Formats: sequence, C-alpha cells, structure tokens
Amino acid sequence: MEKYIYLKNTTDYSKLKVAGEIIKQGGLVLFPTETVYGLGANGLDEDAVKKIYIAKGRKQDNPLILHVSNFDMVSKIAKDISDIEYTLMKTFWPGPFTIILNRTKIVPDIVTAGLDTVGVRMPSGEIARALISYAEVPIAAPSANISGRPSGTNVSDIFEELSGKVDYIVDGGECEVGLESTVVRVVDGVPTILRPGKISPEDIQKVIGVVKIDEHILKNIEPDEKVLSPGMKYRHYAPKSQCLLIYSEDNEKMVKKIQEISKEYTNPLVISCIENAKYYEVNHKIIYGAKENLNEIAQNIFKDLRKVDSFHPDIVIIEGVKNQGIGLAIMNRLIRACEYHYIKI
Ligand code: TXA
Ligand code: MG
Repeated sequence: MEKYIYLKNTTDYSKLKVAGEIIKQGGLVLFPTETVYGLGANGLDEDAVKKIYIAKGRKQDNPLILHVSNFDMVSKIAKDISDIEYTLMKTFWPGPFTIILNRTKIVPDIVTAGLDTVGVRMPSGEIARALISYAEVPIAAPSANISGRPSGTNVSDIFEELSGKVDYIVDGGECEVGLESTVVRVVDGVPTILRPGKISPEDIQKVIGVVKIDEHILKNIEPDEKVLSPGMKYRHYAPKSQCLLIYSEDNEKMVKKIQEISKEYTNPLVISCIENAKYYEVNHKIIYGAKENLNEIAQNIFKDLRKVDSFHPDIVIIEGVKNQGIGLAIMNRLIRACEYHYIKI
C-alpha cells in the first residue's frame, strides 16, 4: 500500500521531504500541479522513469516533460537556449507552460523517447515546486491517468486506476486549471503551439509578436503522418461511450441541432453549459459550467468526461465552446475525447 498525505490549506510543505526522498531513491509519487496531477519520478534515472511508462501503459515513443523548480536545473538538462526561448520561460514560468528545448546528454533517452529535444516546465503549484526542491532533481511527470483516459484533476478520480502502482500519493485537492500545460516549440524563431493550454496563443503573441498554432491541434491525424509532438497522435481523454461534439457560434442553432440528434437515441446524455441545460429533454445531463466562464469549463471538463460511462448512454453529446483563450485547449481535448466526431455549423 502506498503512503498518502493530504496537503490542502497549508503553507507548511516540510512534510514533502519524505516524498522528495522517495523520488531520489527511484520511486513513483503522485502529486498535484496547477494543471493536472502528475505521476512523477527522478527524471535523470532511467529505471525510475521506466516505472512511469509501465504504470500508465504509455507508448515508449511518447516523451515526458521534465519539471524543474529553478533555472539551474534548466541549464543542466537543456542547451543552446535562444533569446526567444528565454523570454518565454521568464514570462510564463512558473506556470502552465512547457517549452521544448535542445537537450543535454544528462537526460536519459527514455525521457525524450530518443528525440534530441526535451520538454521542460516550471509549475506554479506550490506543492509541485516544493516536491521538486526536496527531490533536488528534475521530475519527469506525465498527467496522472492510464493512457487514453482523461487526465486526473483530483485524487479520487484516479485513485482506482493508479493505486498500488505508486509509492506515495500527495493529495492537494482539485487542480486549479484542470487542463494540461501549453506545449510550445520555437521553430525558426516562431513560437509554435503543439498542445494548447491556459497560456493562450494571444498571450504568446503579446510577448513575442508572432505565434503559430500547429495545424494538428483541431484536426485528425493520419496514421503515417509526421507530427512535431508524439502525444498528438494518440487516442486521448476518451470515455468508453460514444461521444459527439457539436458547436455553432449561433447558440440557438447549436441547441436545435443537439435537440434533433438526441431524439435519435434511447439513452442520450448531454454535457452543456448551465444556461442551455433547460432546453434538453434527455435522460442524463451534466453541466460543465457557465457559457462565458471558460476557466470554469476547463476546470470541470475532465472530471465530467470521467462521469459519463456510469450512465451507460448510447450517445454523449457535448456542446463546444468558442476557440478563444483557453477555449482552444478545451476544444482540442473535446475533439479528441469525441475521436473527431465533430459537427460545426
Ligand atoms: O500540465 C502538464 O503538462 C502535465 C503536468 C503533470 O505537468 N503533464 C502532462 O504530461 O500533460 P503528458 O506526458 O501527459 O503530456 C506531455 C506532452 C505529450 O503530448 C508529449 O508528446 C509532449 O508533451 N512532449 C514531451 N516532450 C516532447 C518533445 N521533446 N517534443 C515534442 N513533444 C513533447
Ligand atoms: Mg497526458
């Protein structure tokens, strides 16, 4: 049985010393960040990192992010850092932002899946940062979930699938953001978003003047297509039930379409904003938040996706959101959860 500690509403993180020791000794620690929970191990220890892949059932060609607590750690694991890359780190760290940098030899191949780059992030979550400081090494950590499932944003959602596979659980309550970090690689001087998150294209544009959104973020990827980030290829965030995403900028049109389609099924479930829920006469409804509060929707969406299978619906219809700010990240996750079953009208 793994050790467990609850660390909500405290500023005394000295109890994390033990978890830091476990990381140092090659163990696995489940811990909160401001985005989602991470499944952490010593990022410089090949055997420890191997345990992450086994616990998650993760494909070996999908690289991990190294989490750091200061810039000294960055200079050990990354090299040839450009001015633009520095500016991005200085601006968005600590925070929900990951940057792909050229790696040094100290980083084991298993972390980067053999690539010559490494994803690096300095989280703003106090628990995460304290844990990295006590561990005194960069912590490799993917989102805490079995591969393919929605990422965990609280311990009770993931306890069943990860209990028995980790040495220590640090419970910090609900994650603040609810979606994983923005992943950026600077290509020919242009910050290119490989995975959208809370740090939006608009935020990056403001600081650097240019930004590019990788074309694969909102579209299907062919099996043999070359992508900049291996994680883009995989089935993700998906409930077992069949899901369908519907969006129109015209709210009335969207509601009508959802009403129409839901009538074709015997046990439909609709996930919608609170304002629209009253329009749906369906067996099951889940409300993901207020229409204009995208931060609230982001925080709830993985939790809501985890609930749907228990209703045994024959269809899950999900309302899309506008593509602005964190809305792009919400749509990116929803499109994948629906395995590209997406109607835009
Ligand atoms: O918010 C987050 O980023 C969370 C928390 C725990 O920090 N972590 C997370 O890790 O979401 P993971 O492993 O679930 O997703 C990492 C993503 C994957 O899509 C992976 O393919 C991509 O980052 N990635 C990692 N290293 C990369 C590299 N060197 N080049 C391109 N993509 C990379
Ligand atoms: Mg993940």
